[in-house]
Amino acid sequence: MLTYNYYGHACFMLDDGKDKVLVDPFLTGNPQATISERDVKATYILITHAHGDHIGDAPDIAIRNDATCIGIPEIMDFGGQIVKTIGMNLGGTVKTSFGFVRMVPALHSSGISGGVCCGFVIGIGGKVVYFAGDTALFGDMKLIGERDKIDYAILPIGGHYTMDPVDAAKAVEFLGASNVIPVHYNTWDIIKQNPDDFVKRVKGAKVHVVKPGQSLELA
Ligand code: NI
Ligand code: MN
Repeated sequence: MLTYNYYGHACFMLDDGKDKVLVDPFLTGNPQATISERDVKATYILITHAHGDHIGDAPDIAIRNDATCIGIPEIMDFGGQIVKTIGMNLGGTVKTSFGFVRMVPALHSSGISGGVCCGFVIGIGGKVVYFAGDTALFGDMKLIGERDKIDYAILPIGGHYTMDPVDAAKAVEFLGASNVIPVHYNTWDIIKQNPDDFVKRVKGAKVHVVKPGQSLELA
C-alpha cells in the first residue's frame, strides 16, 4: 500500500509502509502547512530546487530523522551542515531501498547559482509517481511518459511561477498519466486557482484534489 500525504504547497510524503519519502519540505513559514518540521517524519528527502518554498526545512528534518537527501549536487552541502546526501543530476537514476528515483528536467530557475531545477520520477510501492517540481509546460514531458508508465503525476497549477491549469492539463496529455494530483496553488493570493477549473480541463486521467492535511491511497 502506498500513501500520499499532502502537507500543503508542494510538500508531500510518499509512504510505502517502510520508507517515508518527503518531498520539498517547506513547512516553516508555509501558510498551508499541516505539520511542523519538528513532527514530520522522513527516511528520504527529495528536493527539486533551492527556492525557499521547496528546500524549506530540509537540513533540520534530515538531521532530526537521519534521513538521506537527494537533489542536485549544488544544493547538497547545505552550507556545511552534516546531512546524508545523494547528489545526482538530470537523466540519472538512483536505486533506493524503496525503489528508484530518476531526476528529470524542469523549466524553472534553480534558486542557487550553477544549479538547475528538476522534477523526479519515483518508483515506489509498485507505482511510478512523477513530481514535476516548479516548471513551465514543455514538450519533452512526452519523453518522461514514454520511458515510464506514470501512475500518478503531481503537477503545479498555481500559475505566475509555474504552469497554470491550462498548461498543466496539456502536461497531463503529454505525460499520458493515469491519475493527477494538483499542487502549488492557493498558498498565497498570487497563485490563487480554483482546482475545479483544472479538473474540467483534464482529459483522459482521473484528477484527485487533495487538501492540505489529507491523505490519498495511491491504488
Ligand atoms: Ni521555484
Ligand atoms: Mn515554488
